[in-house]
Amino acid sequence: MYIKKLIGEKCYLSPIDINDAEKYAMWLNDQEIADFLTLSTAVIPVDGEREILQKMSKDHNYAIVDLKTNTLLGNVGLIDINHIHGSAEIGIFIGDKSYWNKGYGKEALSLLIDYSYKKLNLHNILLRTYDFNVRAIACYEKIGFKRIGEIRQGIQRNLEFHNIILMDILPSDFYKK
Ligand SMILES: CC(C)(COP(=O)(O)OP(=O)(O)OC[C@H]1O[C@@H](n2cnc3c(N)ncnc32)[C@H](O)[C@@H]1OP(=O)(O)O)[C@@H](O)C(=O)NCCC(=O)NCCS
Repeated sequence: MYIKKLIGEKCYLSPIDINDAEKYAMWLNDQEIADFLTLSTAVIPVDGEREILQKMSKDHNYAIVDLKTNTLLGNVGLIDINHIHGSAEIGIFIGDKSYWNKGYGKEALSLLIDYSYKKLNLHNILLRTYDFNVRAIACYEKIGFKRIGEIRQGIQRNLEFHNIILMDILPSDFYKK
C-alpha cells in the first residue's frame, strides 16, 4: 500500500511497502539497471531484499510511485544523515525502465531534496555516480547538482576502470532553478 507523503505532478513519494520485495529483487538483479548501482556485485534474493526493505523503510527511503496509475517505479533515499552538520548522501533508481527519461527522476529527487532542506534541516546533499551514467549526470545537473570532483578509476565494470563522479547541492543551487 502506498501513502502520498510528498506529492509532485508526475509521481509521489511513499513509505516503502516491504511486500514489494519481489519487484525490487527483479529490478536489482537486472544487469542493465545494476550496472549503474553500487550493489551490482551483490547477491539479492527475495527474502534478503525483504529484510533490507524492512530496515530501509524505517529511515528516509521512499518508494517512487506514478501519480496517475499508482505503479511502483523505484526508490529514492538518504543515507549517512548527519544532523550536526546538516549533510547527507542521496541515491535513486527507477526500476521500471519504461519510465526512464520522462522526468520522473528529476521530480522524485526534487521532492526529497526540498523535504530534506525544509523539514530535516539538511544543507549539503552529496551523491556519487559513475562517469558512464550520462543520463543520471544530466538529470542531476538539471536539478542544480554541481560536480565537485571524481575518484579516478574508482570502479571496475565490464573489464574497464571508470571514475566515480561526486556531485553536491546546496539550497542556493536548488532553489535558484
Ligand atoms: C538515473 C535516473 C534516476 C534518472 O531518472 P530519469 O527519470 O530517467 O531522468 P529524467 O528524465 O528526470 O532526466 C534525465 C535528463 O537527462 C537527459 N538525458 C538522457 N540521456 C542523456 C544523454 N545520453 N546525454 C545527455 N542528456 C541525457 C534527458 O533528456 C533528461 O533531461 P530533460 O528532462 O531536460 O529532457 C534513472 O534513469 C534511473 O534510475 N536509471 C537506472 C539506475 C541509475 O542509474 N540510478 C542512478 C545511480 S547514481
